[in-house]
Amino acid sequence: MTQPGTPATTDLAPKINRAFDFAGAQLRRLIETHPDYFPMYTQAGKWRHGGDTWTNWCEGFLGGQLWLLYHRTRDPYWRAKAEHYSRLIEHRKTDWDVHDLGFLFWSTWKRWYDLEGDPAVNAVVVEAGRTLSLRFKEKGQYLRSFVADDSLFIDIMMNVGIIFYAAQQTGDAELLRRATQHALTTRRCLVRGDGSASHEGIFDLNTGEFLRQTTQQGWRDDSSWARGLTWALYGFGAVYGFTGDERFLRTAQACADFYIERTPAHGVPPNDWEEPNPALPYESSAAAIAASGLLSLAALTRDTAQAAGYRACALRILNTLTEPEFLAIDTPGWEGILKHGMYHQRRGLGVDESVMWGDYFFLEALDKAAGAA
Ligand code: GLY
Repeated sequence: MTQPGTPATTDLAPKINRAFDFAGAQLRRLIETHPDYFPMYTQAGKWRHGGDTWTNWCEGFLGGQLWLLYHRTRDPYWRAKAEHYSRLIEHRKTDWDVHDLGFLFWSTWKRWYDLEGDPAVNAVVVEAGRTLSLRFKEKGQYLRSFVADDSLFIDIMMNVGIIFYAAQQTGDAELLRRATQHALTTRRCLVRGDGSASHEGIFDLNTGEFLRQTTQQGWRDDSSWARGLTWALYGFGAVYGFTGDERFLRTAQACADFYIERTPAHGVPPNDWEEPNPALPYESSAAAIAASGLLSLAALTRDTAQAAGYRACALRILNTLTEPEFLAIDTPGWEGILKHGMYHQRRGLGVDESVMWGDYFFLEALDKAAGAA
């Protein structure tokens, strides 16, 4: 069932083509002006600045966009740049300091492997998955966030997939146990009955007891930070894809239903749904993640009406994000692709700017929508 105002994929095709052409021009300028530089967010529309990064989790999103451009165009220029920017981050496969190895390697080396099937490339993905599994806390049964041992982030649901993948590739039951337990703990402690999600959970390190929900980037401890909710929507759907465990599908669907119920018809939420009269109306990166996650969830959902609803919402989001209010195509001098993203409002980082992951998931969602046309 198509909802009123929902564009068919074919109607979107010219906008998708235009957005990809624009993305290619923006990315070519970025990598030729600032070779080997990994931006995170813009300041006044410019990628290169000395602003704080808080943590280093974004280095896969540039190579990921280059692989997406290569996938779409088969232009050897993008193939060479995509490999180059992937190789620049290979050393991170043993990085124990962050919980983000899925973001780094799924967007780059896994895309590379899917396109070309080289076992040596796959081995890097598997090693990154093994490294991430080392963050597992037996007391509490979760992968700890980068901030502290007692901290679990909803964001890790987007990264745990690489451990499931490593488990499948190697047959290692311990990897599967850690990944499954992490997803179950996150489901129990961070996803609420109404499908909203807490950003962070705090545990007692001596007993493993779950103590409380809190937030780093949202409005309040009991509110729902929009990007965190979309990490859950997308991540639980992906974990269902790995496991076939219906509990994870139901959780992804609950998060999707919350997103759809609470977001205006144009499809772009504020940074947190509970912020009263938000000063900034849009967090476009959450919308891009939701669009991509909803397209995948639609493909996993057996109920055809429910699946059509998820797909319709994804297409509404993409229809909005390809308008010049969001696509920076009519904004002279703006270096990003998607405007009105948000990194860390409380810290004043990347507020109402382009953000690397927003651009990446936007292109991923457009590529998925185009592929299904
Ligand atoms: N640290 C991941 C995010 O800002 O969504």
